[in-house]
Amino acid sequence: MVDRSGKFEGDNPFDICKRWIAESEDGELNDPNAIALSTVSEDGMPNVRMVLLKNIDHSAFVFFTNFGSQKAIEIFDCGKASFVWHSKFLRRQIRVRGITSLESELASDEYYKSRSLKSRLGAWASIQSKPLNSRKILLDRVETFTESLGDDPARPKFWGGFRIAPTEIEFWAEGEARLHDRFLWSKRDQDGQWSIERLFP
Ligand SMILES: Cc1cc2nc3c(=O)[nH]c(=O)nc-3n(C[C@H](O)[C@H](O)[C@H](O)COP(=O)(O)O)c2cc1C
Repeated sequence: MVDRSGKFEGDNPFDICKRWIAESEDGELNDPNAIALSTVSEDGMPNVRMVLLKNIDHSAFVFFTNFGSQKAIEIFDCGKASFVWHSKFLRRQIRVRGITSLESELASDEYYKSRSLKSRLGAWASIQSKPLNSRKILLDRVETFTESLGDDPARPKFWGGFRIAPTEIEFWAEGEARLHDRFLWSKRDQDGQWSIERLFP
């Protein structure tokens, strides 16, 4: 049995993630839920960008995006993704690797509805990751959608959530003289049991 008292304590890694992110909220300048999301293109070239982690439930991490974006193309192609969350304030990081799937239509609708009207219209206007010749074209598209969709736009079908169901979650916390603590939670597949091991820093 590995001793994980203190910040690493808990039987459920999703709860530990939620606890760490909540603890970081007072100290981060903004976006304490920001993660660097990594995907791999068809030819094996890695790619990374920030997104906001919008939900953590009993089995997956959820973020929202445009399904035509570069990240979405790579996720649809590969079916896997990883991310890292880092708090400068807490001096901790969480690394996740897992299997991707689409969030339910209902959950995507609910999250879309919770966004500001401008963000909802922006989702319609942005052909994310595609070339844009001028900012004016984007602003004109926002205006067009504002006029045509009114103040209660439905979620565009090309926009919604992805779930990342982890097979590995690593919790890292800074230690004195760079003798950091690391605990890797891993399981063979979605239905497997978590096993936990301490790693050298
Ligand atoms: C702090 C931060 C949060 C972001 N959150 C999101 C997000 O939740 N969803 C999203 O699609 N893009 C988000 N972006 C923009 C992405 O980093 C990226 O530019 C965009 O999604 C296009 O990526 P892609 O071309 O690799 O698909 C965020 C950027 C930053 C800096």
